[in-house]
Amino acid sequence: MDKSLQKTEQEEIESKRKVYREAKEQTRKNARRLRFDESNPQPKKDSVDSPRKRFYRQRAHSNPFSDHRLDYPKSPESMDWSKYYPQYHDKESNNMLQDVEIADIGCGYGGLLINLSKEFPKTLCLGMEIRVQVTQYVEDRIIALREQNKSKDINYQNIAVIRGNAMKFLPNFFKKSQLSKMFFCFPDPHFKQRKHKARIITNTLLSEYAYALKVGGIIYTITDVEDLHNWMVEHLTEHPLFERLDKQWEDQDKCVEIMYNSTEEGQKVERNKGDKFIACFRRLPDPEI
Ligand SMILES: C[S@@+](CC[C@H](N)C(=O)[O-])C[C@H]1O[C@@H](n2cnc3c(N)ncnc32)[C@H](O)[C@@H]1O
Repeated sequence: MDKSLQKTEQEEIESKRKVYREAKEQTRKNARRLRFDESNPQPKKDSVDSPRKRFYRQRAHSNPFSDHRLDYPKSPESMDWSKYYPQYHDKESNNMLQDVEIADIGCGYGGLLINLSKEFPKTLCLGMEIRVQVTQYVEDRIIALREQNKSKDINYQNIAVIRGNAMKFLPNFFKKSQLSKMFFCFPDPHFKQRKHKARIITNTLLSEYAYALKVGGIIYTITDVEDLHNWMVEHLTEHPLFERLDKQWEDQDKCVEIMYNSTEEGQKVERNKGDKFIACFRRLPDPEI
């Protein structure tokens, strides 16, 4: 095709995406504003529509070391969760009724979160995602699901997404022993040796995850890259605060089944008939000194 024609076509697609995303941005702003206004139950049409993924596509890999524009709370106590889970916020006392208990690290397009919401409808689950447009897609997806399921038992008020780099300041979001489950589903493999330091499981990061997890809490991992699976197993096994759970445990655990089938990346692997490697680890008590 003629290069200039190709360029014009590309520009048209880009501008369409931009217009779509700007409209959704407005819906997001309205939804944030209206979240507390229960006297305004009439959803706007576009907030009920599920977002279209093709308008939010972003480069697959992001560099976790160049995220200088991200905001972090000073401490878990200063984090305002009421914006994310308005139905779990008590207006009178201005306190949250519950803490986040389940974290999906690098949640991508949010498939796992949505399934966790159905399995644990009374537990607060949080997706953390570094890519801007992917985070916006998940936020729009949750807004739409909440609007579509307002009067139902499963109303998706217990899930939320936050843009953040899990490799930085995780203890600023979560108190010690706050979480009962952390999911690492199809993390970026960072194949090259010199990029291994960007992997989401390292000794240092595992100590942060152990801090946020309660004793008995579980780290779930799944990947289609055998080398990364071995890396995660090796690091988790070597860490003094984790012990691996066996195949028998995996087979009876509901979350393993959910994680196996429900993430977008996992579905892609399924379509391509790839392998899926699972490893789950339990948080051990701190050693006595
Ligand atoms: C291969 S995708 C998997 C997404 C999802 N878990 C799934 O299974 O469909 C990995 C995701 O992790 C996100 N990610 C990578 N590093 C991250 C970090 N340090 N903090 C938060 N998210 C991260 C990426 O942007 C990407 O969306």
